[in-house]
Amino acid sequence: MDKLVIRGGNPLVGTIRVSGAKNAALPAMAAALLTEDPVILENVPQVRDIVTERNLLAAMGAEVELGYGRAQHRTTISCRNLINAEASYDLVKTMRASTLVLGPLVARMKTARVSLPGGCAIGARPIDLHLKGLEKLGARISQEHGYIEARADRLTGARIVFEKITVTGTEDLLMAATLAEGETVLENCAREPEVVDLAALLVKMGARIEGAGTPTIRVQGVHKLHGARHRIIPDRIEAGTFIVAAALTGGDLTIAGCDPQHVAALLSKLEECGIHAAVDADSVRIVGGGPLKAADIVTEEYPGFPTDMQAQYMVLATQAEGTSLITENIFENRFMHGQELVRMGANIKIEGSRAVVRGRTALSGAAVQASDLRASASLVIAALVADGETIIDRVYHIDRGYERIEEKLRGVGAQIRRIGQLIPKRIAAAVEAE
Ligand code: EPZ
Repeated sequence: MDKLVIRGGNPLVGTIRVSGAKNAALPAMAAALLTEDPVILENVPQVRDIVTERNLLAAMGAEVELGYGRAQHRTTISCRNLINAEASYDLVKTMRASTLVLGPLVARMKTARVSLPGGCAIGARPIDLHLKGLEKLGARISQEHGYIEARADRLTGARIVFEKITVTGTEDLLMAATLAEGETVLENCAREPEVVDLAALLVKMGARIEGAGTPTIRVQGVHKLHGARHRIIPDRIEAGTFIVAAALTGGDLTIAGCDPQHVAALLSKLEECGIHAAVDADSVRIVGGGPLKAADIVTEEYPGFPTDMQAQYMVLATQAEGTSLITENIFENRFMHGQELVRMGANIKIEGSRAVVRGRTALSGAAVQASDLRASASLVIAALVADGETIIDRVYHIDRGYERIEEKLRGVGAQIRRIGQLIPKRIAAAVEAE
Protein backbone atom coordinates (compact mmCIF):
# COMPACT_ATOMS: atom_id res chain seq x y z
CA MET A 1 0.00 0.00 0.00
CA ASP A 2 1.35 3.41 -0.95
CA LYS A 3 2.21 6.01 1.65
CA LEU A 4 2.85 9.73 1.36
CA VAL A 5 5.92 11.12 3.06
CA ILE A 6 5.72 14.84 3.71
CA ARG A 7 8.25 17.16 5.32
CA GLY A 8 6.46 20.24 6.60
CA GLY A 9 7.42 23.87 6.77
CA ASN A 10 7.74 24.90 3.13
CA PRO A 11 5.58 27.82 1.97
CA LEU A 12 3.48 27.05 -1.10
CA VAL A 13 4.37 29.48 -3.86
CA GLY A 14 3.24 29.70 -7.48
CA THR A 15 0.20 28.44 -9.36
CA ILE A 16 -1.63 25.19 -8.83
CA ARG A 17 -4.31 24.01 -11.28
CA VAL A 18 -7.59 22.48 -10.25
CA SER A 19 -8.88 19.34 -12.04
CA GLY A 20 -12.43 18.56 -13.08
CA ALA A 21 -14.89 17.75 -10.31
CA LYS A 22 -15.08 14.05 -9.48
CA ASN A 23 -18.56 14.49 -8.03
CA ALA A 24 -19.78 16.12 -11.25
CA ALA A 25 -18.04 13.61 -13.53
CA LEU A 26 -19.57 10.58 -11.78
CA PRO A 27 -23.24 11.49 -12.46
CA ALA A 28 -22.31 12.76 -15.94
CA MET A 29 -20.86 9.35 -16.79
CA ALA A 30 -24.00 7.66 -15.43
CA ALA A 31 -26.10 9.98 -17.63
CA ALA A 32 -24.50 8.39 -20.70
CA LEU A 33 -26.64 5.33 -19.90
CA LEU A 34 -29.72 7.35 -20.91
CA THR A 35 -28.86 7.39 -24.63
CA GLU A 36 -27.68 5.11 -27.43
CA ASP A 37 -25.44 7.88 -28.78
CA PRO A 38 -21.93 8.71 -27.60
CA VAL A 39 -21.55 11.22 -24.78
CA ILE A 40 -18.22 13.03 -24.81
CA LEU A 41 -17.04 14.40 -21.49
CA GLU A 42 -14.11 16.79 -21.20
CA ASN A 43 -12.15 17.69 -18.06
CA VAL A 44 -12.78 14.32 -16.40
CA PRO A 45 -10.30 13.97 -13.53
CA GLN A 46 -7.95 11.00 -13.56
CA VAL A 47 -8.81 9.62 -10.15
CA ARG A 48 -9.63 6.17 -8.82
CA ASP A 49 -13.42 6.69 -8.51
CA ILE A 50 -13.60 7.55 -12.20
CA VAL A 51 -11.77 4.32 -13.05
CA THR A 52 -14.31 2.44 -10.91
CA GLU A 53 -17.19 4.09 -12.75
CA ARG A 54 -15.60 3.24 -16.10
CA ASN A 55 -15.35 -0.40 -15.02
CA LEU A 56 -18.96 -0.30 -13.87
CA LEU A 57 -20.20 1.01 -17.23
CA ALA A 58 -17.96 -1.36 -19.18
CA ALA A 59 -19.37 -4.32 -17.23
CA MET A 60 -22.80 -3.28 -18.52
CA GLY A 61 -21.60 -3.35 -22.12
CA ALA A 62 -20.76 0.34 -22.55
CA GLU A 63 -17.84 1.29 -24.76
CA VAL A 64 -15.64 3.70 -22.88
CA GLU A 65 -12.88 5.40 -24.80
CA LEU A 66 -10.20 7.49 -23.15
CA GLY A 67 -8.41 10.36 -24.82
CA TYR A 68 -4.64 10.43 -24.75
CA GLY A 69 -1.92 13.05 -24.85
CA ARG A 70 -3.47 16.52 -24.70
CA ALA A 71 -6.94 14.92 -24.69
CA GLN A 72 -6.18 12.69 -21.71
CA HIS A 73 -9.05 14.18 -19.71
CA ARG A 74 -11.62 13.32 -22.38
CA THR A 75 -13.85 10.27 -21.95
CA THR A 76 -16.27 9.12 -24.63
CA ILE A 77 -19.00 6.75 -23.51
CA SER A 78 -21.25 4.87 -25.86
CA CYS A 79 -24.09 2.86 -24.36
CA ARG A 80 -25.60 1.58 -27.63
CA ASN A 81 -25.46 -2.09 -26.70
CA LEU A 82 -26.07 -2.50 -23.02
CA ILE A 83 -26.05 -6.15 -22.07
CA ASN A 84 -26.30 -6.15 -18.33
CA ALA A 85 -28.27 -3.65 -16.22
CA GLU A 86 -26.42 -4.48 -13.04
CA ALA A 87 -24.04 -2.80 -10.59
CA SER A 88 -22.32 -5.57 -8.70
CA TYR A 89 -21.46 -5.62 -5.01
CA ASP A 90 -17.75 -5.70 -5.84
CA LEU A 91 -17.98 -2.29 -7.49
CA VAL A 92 -20.63 -0.67 -5.28
CA LYS A 93 -18.75 -1.57 -2.10
CA THR A 94 -15.70 0.36 -3.32
CA MET A 95 -17.73 3.35 -4.48
CA ARG A 96 -21.19 4.23 -3.20
CA ALA A 97 -21.77 6.65 -6.07
CA SER A 98 -22.26 3.52 -8.23
CA THR A 99 -25.89 3.73 -7.09
CA LEU A 100 -26.19 6.69 -9.49
CA VAL A 101 -26.79 4.18 -12.30
CA LEU A 102 -30.09 3.08 -10.74
CA GLY A 103 -32.28 5.88 -12.12
CA PRO A 104 -30.79 5.97 -15.64
CA LEU A 105 -30.88 2.16 -15.97
CA VAL A 106 -34.51 1.78 -15.01
CA ALA A 107 -35.47 4.71 -17.24
CA ARG A 108 -33.68 3.40 -20.33
CA MET A 109 -33.55 -0.40 -19.79
CA LYS A 110 -36.81 -0.77 -17.81
CA THR A 111 -34.87 -2.74 -15.22
CA ALA A 112 -31.93 -2.26 -12.88
CA ARG A 113 -30.17 -4.49 -10.38
CA VAL A 114 -27.89 -2.58 -8.07
CA SER A 115 -26.13 -3.83 -4.98
CA LEU A 116 -27.30 -2.10 -1.83
CA PRO A 117 -24.32 -0.17 -0.45
CA GLY A 118 -23.42 -0.80 3.15
CA GLY A 119 -22.45 1.91 5.64
CA CYS A 120 -19.16 3.66 5.13
CA ALA A 121 -16.46 5.33 7.23
CA ILE A 122 -18.36 8.63 7.48
CA GLY A 123 -21.87 7.38 8.24
CA ALA A 124 -24.74 4.98 7.46
CA ARG A 125 -25.57 6.69 4.17
CA PRO A 126 -28.85 5.01 3.23
CA ILE A 127 -30.37 5.32 -0.28
CA ASP A 128 -34.01 5.12 0.84
CA LEU A 129 -34.82 8.50 -0.72
CA HIS A 130 -33.60 7.35 -4.16
CA LEU A 131 -35.85 4.30 -3.85
CA LYS A 132 -38.92 6.17 -2.59
CA GLY A 133 -38.55 8.63 -5.45
CA LEU A 134 -38.27 5.89 -8.06
CA GLU A 135 -41.38 4.23 -6.61
CA LYS A 136 -43.23 7.53 -7.00
CA LEU A 137 -42.17 7.50 -10.65
CA GLY A 138 -43.84 4.10 -10.94
CA ALA A 139 -40.91 1.71 -10.51
CA ARG A 140 -41.50 -1.54 -8.66
CA ILE A 141 -38.71 -2.00 -6.17
CA SER A 142 -37.70 -5.21 -4.48
CA GLN A 143 -34.73 -6.27 -2.45
CA GLU A 144 -33.10 -9.68 -2.41
CA HIS A 145 -29.66 -11.06 -1.59
CA GLY A 146 -28.32 -7.58 -0.91
CA TYR A 147 -29.45 -6.24 -4.28
CA ILE A 148 -32.11 -3.67 -5.15
CA GLU A 149 -34.16 -4.50 -8.21
CA ALA A 150 -36.17 -1.82 -9.92
CA ARG A 151 -38.53 -2.38 -12.83
CA ALA A 152 -40.85 -0.18 -14.85
CA ASP A 153 -42.15 -0.41 -18.43
CA ARG A 154 -42.09 3.34 -18.58
CA LEU A 155 -41.64 5.69 -15.65
CA THR A 156 -44.36 8.29 -15.23
CA GLY A 157 -43.84 11.83 -13.98
CA ALA A 158 -44.77 12.62 -10.38
CA ARG A 159 -44.32 15.18 -7.63
CA ILE A 160 -41.52 14.11 -5.31
CA VAL A 161 -40.64 15.99 -2.14
CA PHE A 162 -37.29 14.92 -0.69
CA GLU A 163 -37.62 14.52 3.10
CA LYS A 164 -33.97 15.42 3.36
CA ILE A 165 -31.70 17.16 0.88
CA THR A 166 -29.63 14.58 -0.95
CA VAL A 167 -27.10 15.30 -3.69
CA THR A 168 -26.89 11.95 -5.49
CA GLY A 169 -30.59 11.34 -4.72
CA THR A 170 -31.49 14.53 -6.60
CA GLU A 171 -29.16 13.52 -9.45
CA ASP A 172 -30.49 9.96 -9.65
CA LEU A 173 -34.13 11.04 -9.87
CA LEU A 174 -33.38 13.93 -12.17
CA MET A 175 -31.84 11.47 -14.64
CA ALA A 176 -34.75 9.03 -14.28
CA ALA A 177 -37.31 11.81 -14.80
CA THR A 178 -35.83 12.92 -18.13
CA LEU A 179 -37.27 9.82 -19.84
CA ALA A 180 -40.48 9.54 -17.75
CA GLU A 181 -43.85 10.19 -19.32
CA GLY A 182 -45.15 13.67 -18.43
CA GLU A 183 -43.98 16.18 -15.86
CA THR A 184 -41.93 15.47 -12.75
CA VAL A 185 -41.56 18.08 -10.03
CA LEU A 186 -38.71 17.48 -7.62
CA GLU A 187 -38.91 19.52 -4.42
CA ASN A 188 -36.37 20.20 -1.68
CA CYS A 189 -33.61 19.38 -4.15
CA ALA A 190 -29.89 19.69 -3.59
CA ARG A 191 -28.57 22.94 -5.09
CA GLU A 192 -24.94 21.86 -5.43
CA PRO A 193 -23.03 23.01 -8.54
CA GLU A 194 -22.65 19.32 -9.46
CA VAL A 195 -26.46 19.04 -9.78
CA VAL A 196 -26.51 22.13 -12.00
CA ASP A 197 -23.70 20.67 -14.13
CA LEU A 198 -25.58 17.40 -14.57
CA ALA A 199 -28.73 19.29 -15.60
CA ALA A 200 -26.68 21.27 -18.14
CA LEU A 201 -25.42 18.02 -19.68
CA LEU A 202 -28.92 16.49 -19.73
CA VAL A 203 -30.32 19.59 -21.45
CA LYS A 204 -27.59 19.25 -24.11
CA MET A 205 -28.78 15.65 -24.52
CA GLY A 206 -32.30 16.87 -25.24
CA ALA A 207 -33.85 16.81 -21.76
CA ARG A 208 -36.33 19.48 -20.71
CA ILE A 209 -35.33 20.72 -17.26
CA GLU A 210 -35.98 23.94 -15.40
CA GLY A 211 -34.88 25.09 -11.96
CA ALA A 212 -31.63 23.18 -11.42
CA GLY A 213 -29.71 25.01 -8.70
CA THR A 214 -32.97 25.93 -6.90
CA PRO A 215 -34.96 23.76 -4.48
CA THR A 216 -37.58 22.95 -7.15
CA ILE A 217 -36.65 21.24 -10.41
CA ARG A 218 -39.26 20.65 -13.12
CA VAL A 219 -38.67 18.02 -15.77
CA GLN A 220 -40.85 17.42 -18.84
CA GLY A 221 -40.14 13.84 -19.86
CA VAL A 222 -39.07 13.09 -23.44
CA HIS A 223 -39.04 9.79 -25.37
CA LYS A 224 -35.38 9.76 -26.25
CA LEU A 225 -32.16 11.55 -25.42
CA HIS A 226 -29.27 12.00 -27.82
CA GLY A 227 -25.49 12.33 -27.52
CA ALA A 228 -23.71 15.48 -26.38
CA ARG A 229 -20.34 16.98 -25.60
CA HIS A 230 -19.84 18.53 -22.19
CA ARG A 231 -17.03 20.00 -20.09
CA ILE A 232 -17.11 19.03 -16.41
CA ILE A 233 -16.94 21.93 -13.92
CA PRO A 234 -13.79 22.44 -11.82
CA ASP A 235 -13.54 20.60 -8.53
CA ARG A 236 -14.55 23.05 -5.80
CA ILE A 237 -13.39 20.74 -3.00
CA GLU A 238 -9.94 20.27 -4.52
CA ALA A 239 -9.78 24.06 -4.92
CA GLY A 240 -10.87 24.52 -1.30
CA THR A 241 -8.25 22.03 -0.12
CA PHE A 242 -5.48 24.01 -1.85
CA ILE A 243 -6.91 27.30 -0.54
CA VAL A 244 -6.68 26.08 3.06
CA ALA A 245 -3.20 24.64 2.46
CA ALA A 246 -2.07 28.00 1.08
CA ALA A 247 -3.55 29.91 4.00
CA LEU A 248 -1.63 27.78 6.49
CA THR A 249 1.76 27.41 4.85
CA GLY A 250 2.50 31.10 4.55
CA GLY A 251 3.28 31.32 0.85
CA ASP A 252 1.68 33.03 -2.10
CA LEU A 253 -0.45 30.59 -4.06
CA THR A 254 -2.77 31.07 -7.00
CA ILE A 255 -5.40 28.37 -7.31
CA ALA A 256 -6.14 28.45 -11.03
CA GLY A 257 -8.92 27.02 -13.15
CA CYS A 258 -11.53 27.07 -10.39
CA ASP A 259 -14.91 28.77 -10.00
CA PRO A 260 -14.55 31.20 -7.06
CA GLN A 261 -18.35 31.38 -6.65
CA HIS A 262 -18.38 27.68 -5.79
CA VAL A 263 -16.04 28.27 -2.84
CA ALA A 264 -17.79 31.41 -1.57
CA ALA A 265 -18.79 29.91 1.81
CA LEU A 266 -15.19 28.86 2.47
CA LEU A 267 -13.76 32.22 1.40
CA SER A 268 -16.15 34.15 3.62
CA LYS A 269 -15.22 31.93 6.59
CA LEU A 270 -11.52 32.46 5.86
CA GLU A 271 -12.12 36.23 5.79
CA GLU A 272 -13.53 35.88 9.33
CA CYS A 273 -10.34 34.03 10.30
CA GLY A 274 -8.23 36.88 8.92
CA ILE A 275 -7.32 35.54 5.47
CA HIS A 276 -8.17 37.68 2.51
CA ALA A 277 -8.45 36.03 -0.91
CA ALA A 278 -7.87 37.91 -4.15
CA VAL A 279 -10.57 36.59 -6.45
CA ASP A 280 -10.48 36.64 -10.25
CA ALA A 281 -12.93 35.17 -12.79
CA ASP A 282 -11.40 31.69 -12.56
CA SER A 283 -8.74 31.85 -9.88
CA VAL A 284 -8.20 32.59 -6.22
CA ARG A 285 -4.92 33.95 -4.84
CA ILE A 286 -4.07 33.41 -1.20
CA VAL A 287 -1.18 35.04 0.60
CA GLY A 288 -0.87 33.11 3.85
CA GLY A 289 1.24 33.43 6.93
CA GLY A 290 -0.66 36.12 8.88
CA PRO A 291 -2.20 35.49 12.30
CA LEU A 292 -5.42 33.45 12.25
CA LYS A 293 -8.49 33.98 14.44
CA ALA A 294 -10.72 31.10 15.50
CA ALA A 295 -14.18 30.91 13.89
CA ASP A 296 -16.99 28.36 14.20
CA ILE A 297 -18.40 26.42 11.29
CA VAL A 298 -21.56 24.42 10.75
CA THR A 299 -21.64 22.11 7.73
CA GLU A 300 -24.69 22.51 5.54
CA GLU A 301 -25.96 21.75 2.08
CA TYR A 302 -24.81 24.09 -0.69
CA PRO A 303 -24.53 27.08 -0.59
CA GLY A 304 -23.58 26.53 3.08
CA PHE A 305 -20.18 25.39 4.34
CA PRO A 306 -19.54 21.97 2.72
CA THR A 307 -19.09 18.83 4.77
CA ASP A 308 -16.39 17.89 2.25
CA MET A 309 -14.27 20.83 3.56
CA GLN A 310 -14.86 20.19 7.25
CA ALA A 311 -11.76 18.02 7.80
CA GLN A 312 -9.47 20.49 6.03
CA TYR A 313 -10.98 23.38 8.03
CA MET A 314 -10.27 21.50 11.25
CA VAL A 315 -6.54 21.73 10.50
CA LEU A 316 -6.91 25.46 10.00
CA ALA A 317 -8.70 25.71 13.36
CA THR A 318 -5.71 24.08 15.08
CA GLN A 319 -3.56 26.98 13.80
CA ALA A 320 -6.02 29.76 14.75
CA GLU A 321 -5.85 31.71 18.00
CA GLY A 322 -8.82 30.76 20.23
CA THR A 323 -11.53 28.11 20.26
CA SER A 324 -13.37 26.99 17.13
CA LEU A 325 -16.56 24.95 17.30
CA ILE A 326 -17.08 22.65 14.33
CA THR A 327 -20.58 21.21 13.91
CA GLU A 328 -21.02 18.38 11.39
CA ASN A 329 -24.64 18.31 10.28
CA ILE A 330 -24.54 16.09 7.21
CA PHE A 331 -22.79 12.85 8.23
CA GLU A 332 -22.87 11.30 11.69
CA ASN A 333 -19.32 9.95 11.82
CA ARG A 334 -17.13 12.37 9.97
CA PHE A 335 -14.53 13.22 12.60
CA MET A 336 -12.10 10.32 12.19
CA HIS A 337 -9.33 12.74 11.18
CA GLY A 338 -9.68 14.46 14.60
CA GLN A 339 -7.85 11.69 16.46
CA GLU A 340 -5.05 11.61 13.90
CA LEU A 341 -4.63 15.39 14.22
CA VAL A 342 -4.45 14.99 18.02
CA ARG A 343 -1.56 12.56 17.45
CA MET A 344 0.17 15.39 15.59
CA GLY A 345 -0.29 17.74 18.56
CA ALA A 346 -3.75 19.29 18.03
CA ASN A 347 -6.11 19.97 20.93
CA ILE A 348 -9.46 18.60 19.73
CA LYS A 349 -12.38 17.29 21.79
CA ILE A 350 -15.14 15.49 19.93
CA GLU A 351 -18.62 15.34 21.42
CA GLY A 352 -21.18 13.74 19.11
CA SER A 353 -21.60 15.93 16.06
CA ARG A 354 -19.37 18.69 17.48
CA ALA A 355 -15.65 19.12 17.65
CA VAL A 356 -14.08 21.74 19.87
CA VAL A 357 -10.68 22.80 18.56
CA ARG A 358 -8.44 24.90 20.80
CA GLY A 359 -5.65 26.73 19.03
CA ARG A 360 -3.07 27.57 18.36
CA THR A 361 -1.05 24.37 18.85
CA ALA A 362 2.15 23.46 17.08
CA LEU A 363 1.84 20.32 14.94
CA SER A 364 4.62 17.79 14.69
CA GLY A 365 5.13 15.11 12.07
CA ALA A 366 3.92 11.60 12.92
CA ALA A 367 2.81 8.37 11.31
CA VAL A 368 -0.92 8.75 10.63
CA GLN A 369 -3.66 6.88 8.80
CA ALA A 370 -6.15 8.20 6.29
CA SER A 371 -9.72 7.04 6.95
CA ASP A 372 -11.61 8.57 4.03
CA LEU A 373 -11.05 10.87 1.10
CA ARG A 374 -11.37 14.29 2.76
CA ALA A 375 -9.80 13.07 6.01
CA SER A 376 -6.71 12.20 3.97
CA ALA A 377 -6.68 15.68 2.47
CA SER A 378 -6.72 17.16 5.97
CA LEU A 379 -3.75 15.01 6.98
CA VAL A 380 -1.81 16.22 3.94
CA ILE A 381 -2.48 19.84 4.95
CA ALA A 382 -1.52 19.13 8.58
CA ALA A 383 1.69 17.48 7.37
CA LEU A 384 2.56 20.53 5.23
CA VAL A 385 2.29 22.69 8.35
CA ALA A 386 3.90 20.28 10.83
CA ASP A 387 7.43 20.28 12.06
CA GLY A 388 9.39 17.29 10.69
CA GLU A 389 8.23 14.33 8.68
CA THR A 390 4.75 12.84 8.46
CA ILE A 391 4.00 9.48 6.89
CA ILE A 392 0.40 9.08 5.77
CA ASP A 393 -0.76 5.50 5.36
CA ARG A 394 -3.74 4.27 3.30
CA VAL A 395 -3.38 6.95 0.66
CA TYR A 396 -5.61 4.96 -1.67
CA HIS A 397 -8.35 7.07 -0.06
CA ILE A 398 -6.82 10.26 -1.43
CA ASP A 399 -6.29 8.69 -4.86
CA ARG A 400 -10.07 8.23 -5.11
CA GLY A 401 -10.61 11.94 -5.55
CA TYR A 402 -7.41 13.98 -5.92
CA GLU A 403 -5.55 13.85 -9.22
CA ARG A 404 -1.74 13.64 -8.90
CA ILE A 405 -1.85 15.47 -5.59
CA GLU A 406 1.81 14.96 -4.75
CA GLU A 407 2.94 16.16 -8.18
CA LYS A 408 0.73 19.26 -7.95
CA LEU A 409 1.93 20.16 -4.45
CA ARG A 410 5.57 19.45 -5.28
CA GLY A 411 5.21 21.88 -8.19
CA VAL A 412 4.49 24.72 -5.74
CA GLY A 413 7.24 23.91 -3.29
CA ALA A 414 5.97 21.16 -0.98
CA GLN A 415 8.31 18.38 0.08
CA ILE A 416 6.11 15.40 -0.64
CA ARG A 417 6.80 12.01 -2.12
CA ARG A 418 5.01 8.74 -2.50
CA ILE A 419 6.52 5.49 -1.41
CA GLY A 420 5.19 2.08 -2.38
CA GLN A 421 5.23 -1.21 -0.54
CA LEU A 422 8.63 -1.21 1.12
CA ILE A 423 9.03 -4.93 1.50
CA PRO A 424 8.05 -7.40 -1.19
CA LYS A 425 4.46 -8.67 -0.68
CA ARG A 426 5.67 -12.27 -0.26
CA ILE A 427 7.85 -11.31 2.72
CA ALA A 428 5.21 -8.97 4.17
CA ALA A 429 2.66 -11.81 4.12
CA ALA A 430 5.09 -14.13 5.87
CA VAL A 431 5.80 -11.51 8.53
CA GLU A 432 2.07 -10.94 9.05
CA ALA A 433 1.42 -14.66 9.35
CA GLU A 434 3.94 -15.00 12.19
C1 EPZ B 1 -22.59 13.47 -2.06
O1 EPZ B 1 -22.83 12.23 -1.40
C2 EPZ B 1 -21.11 13.51 -2.37
N1 EPZ B 1 -20.79 12.38 -3.24
C3 EPZ B 1 -20.32 13.46 -1.09
O2 EPZ B 1 -18.95 13.59 -1.42
C4 EPZ B 1 -20.74 14.64 -0.19
O3 EPZ B 1 -20.07 14.54 1.04
C5 EPZ B 1 -22.24 14.60 0.03
O4 EPZ B 1 -22.93 14.57 -1.24
C6 EPZ B 1 -22.76 15.79 0.82
O5 EPZ B 1 -22.42 16.98 0.17
C7 EPZ B 1 -21.01 12.47 -4.56
O6 EPZ B 1 -21.50 13.47 -5.07
C8 EPZ B 1 -20.61 11.32 -5.39
P1 EPZ B 1 -26.28 12.94 0.34
P2 EPZ B 1 -24.32 11.69 -1.22
O7 EPZ B 1 -27.21 11.95 -0.26
O8 EPZ B 1 -25.13 12.14 -2.36
C9 EPZ B 1 -28.80 11.29 4.01
C10 EPZ B 1 -16.64 13.17 -1.14
O9 EPZ B 1 -15.77 13.19 -0.23
N2 EPZ B 1 -29.52 10.46 3.05
O10 EPZ B 1 -26.40 14.36 -0.08
O11 EPZ B 1 -24.22 10.25 -0.94
C11 EPZ B 1 -27.33 10.89 4.15
O12 EPZ B 1 -27.15 9.80 5.02
C12 EPZ B 1 -18.01 12.71 -0.85
O13 EPZ B 1 -16.39 13.46 -2.33
C13 EPZ B 1 -30.58 9.68 3.48
O14 EPZ B 1 -30.93 9.66 4.65
O15 EPZ B 1 -24.79 12.45 0.07
C14 EPZ B 1 -26.71 12.17 4.65
O16 EPZ B 1 -26.89 12.30 6.02
C15 EPZ B 1 -18.23 11.88 0.32
N3 EPZ B 1 -31.23 8.91 2.54
C16 EPZ B 1 -27.53 13.26 3.94
O17 EPZ B 1 -28.74 12.61 3.54
C17 EPZ B 1 -30.90 8.90 1.23
O18 EPZ B 1 -31.55 8.19 0.44
C18 EPZ B 1 -26.89 13.86 2.72
O19 EPZ B 1 -26.36 12.83 1.90
C19 EPZ B 1 -29.83 9.71 0.81
C20 EPZ B 1 -29.16 10.48 1.74
